[in-house]
Amino acid sequence: AIDISKLRDQSGYITLDPGFKNTGATKSAITFLDGEKGVLKYRGYKIEELAEKSTFLEVAYLLIYGELPTQAVLEKFRSDIKAQMLVHEDMKNFFAGFPSKSHPMGQLSCLVGALSAFYPESLNPNQTEEEEYQTIVNLIGKMPTIVSWIQKKSLGHPVVYPKKDLGYIDNFMNMIFGEVNCDKIFDDAVLDAMRVLLILHADHEQNCSTSTVRIVGSSNANLYASISAGINALWGPLHGGANQAVIEMLEDIKNDGGDVQKYLDKAKDKNDPFRLMGFGHRVYKNFDPRAKIIKKAADEVLEKLGVKDPVLDIAKGLEKAALEDQYFIDRKLYPNVDFYSGIIYRALGFNSEMFTVLFALGRLPGWIGQWKEMRDNKEPIGRPRQVYIGETDREYVDLKNR
Ligand code: ACO
Repeated sequence: AIDISKLRDQSGYITLDPGFKNTGATKSAITFLDGEKGVLKYRGYKIEELAEKSTFLEVAYLLIYGELPTQAVLEKFRSDIKAQMLVHEDMKNFFAGFPSKSHPMGQLSCLVGALSAFYPESLNPNQTEEEEYQTIVNLIGKMPTIVSWIQKKSLGHPVVYPKKDLGYIDNFMNMIFGEVNCDKIFDDAVLDAMRVLLILHADHEQNCSTSTVRIVGSSNANLYASISAGINALWGPLHGGANQAVIEMLEDIKNDGGDVQKYLDKAKDKNDPFRLMGFGHRVYKNFDPRAKIIKKAADEVLEKLGVKDPVLDIAKGLEKAALEDQYFIDRKLYPNVDFYSGIIYRALGFNSEMFTVLFALGRLPGWIGQWKEMRDNKEPIGRPRQVYIGETDREYVDLKNR
C-alpha cells in the first residue's frame, strides 16, 4: 500500500496513470480522433476523403506543415524529396554486416539512426526553418530507398536505384520489386492500394511510437535519432508489429483446420497469453475507420489482382464471430488498422516480416509532423514522474557477508 502522506513529503502529489490511459501529454493540432464515434481527421480533413483524393506526399505535407500544398508548393516538395532519394554508398558498408535474415525493423531503425552520422548538420537543435526542411525532405526521400535495400538483401538481390522519372510510390515499388536495368510496370490498382495504405497509416496522434518520437526529440535529439526510436517502438506486436502477427495468426488458424471459434476461445481464456492480433485499440471503442477502408480495399485489390487468399475468408469469419461474441462486445474490441492490411501487403508480394516496415514508411510524415510541432511549440523535455515503492534506508552488506 502507498502511504500518501510520505509521498507528499517527498515530492508533492503525482498523478499515477500506468500506460498513460488518461493522461494528455501535449496539445496538438495535427490529428483528431474520436474513439467513440470512429472519427479520424488529419488537420481537420476526414481520413476517408484524403484516402480517396490525395497523394501520399500531399498528405505528408499537410501533416508536417499544416495545410494542403498548392500545386507549386507540392511540385517543389516532390522534387526536393526526389533529389534526396539516393542513399550514401558508405551506408552500404555497415548495412552489409547485417545477417540477411535479420528482422527488417532492426535494420531499418539502425539505418535511419545512422543517417545522423552522414548528415551531422541535423545535430544542431537550432536549425533554421530551411535547414530543418532539408533534413525533413532528406529523410522522406531516403526512407523508401532504405526499405528497398532491406527487401533486396533478404532476397540476396542487388539494389535497384531510384529513377528520376518515377513518382514516390512508383519509385518505391520499382526499387522493391524491379530488377537492375529491367523495370517492372505496376498495375494502377497496385499503386493505388499502396497509396491508400500509406495515407491511412500516416498519423494517429499520441500512440506509442509517436509519443516515443516526441519524448526523444524533447531532449533536442536530432530528427533521425528520434525517428529511429519511433521505429523501435512501432516494432512491438502490441503496436505496429501486430500486422505481421495477424497474418501469422491467420496462417496458424488455416493450418489448424480453420476453426476460428477455437482461437476466439483461446483469446478469451485469461490463463492463455494469446490475444486476437489486430483486435482492440486503446482509443477506438466503436470501430477503427481505417480498418473499414482497408477491409474494402483488401476485397478490391485481391479481386483486381486475381489473387485468391484463403486467409481473407478466415479473417472475415474471425471478425464476424468476434463481433457476435459477448467477451468482445463487452470490451468493445473491434478489428484495428492491422487486421486486414497484411492481406493486401501479401497480395502485393511482400513477405510478412516487411509489413511493419511498410507501416513505418507510412507513419514517417506523422512522426515528423509531431516532432516538428513539439519543437515549434518549445515543449519542455519529457520526463514523467513515478511513485517509488522500493526499499528505503538499507544497510550496505559487504560481498563476503551476503
Ligand atoms: N484479444 C483478446 N482480449 C483482448 C484483446 C485482444 N486482442 N485486446 C484487449 N483485450 C482484453 C484485455 O484482456 C482486457 O480484458 P479484461 O478487462 O478482462 O482484463 C480488455 O480487453 C482491455 O484490454 P487492455 O489490454 O487493457 O487494453 P489496452 O488499451 O491496454 O490495449 C491493445 C490495447 C494493446 C491494442 C490491445 O487491444 C491488444 O493487445 N490488441 C492486440 C494487438 C494489436 O492488434 N495491436 C495493434 C493496435 S493498433 C496499432 O498500434 C497500430
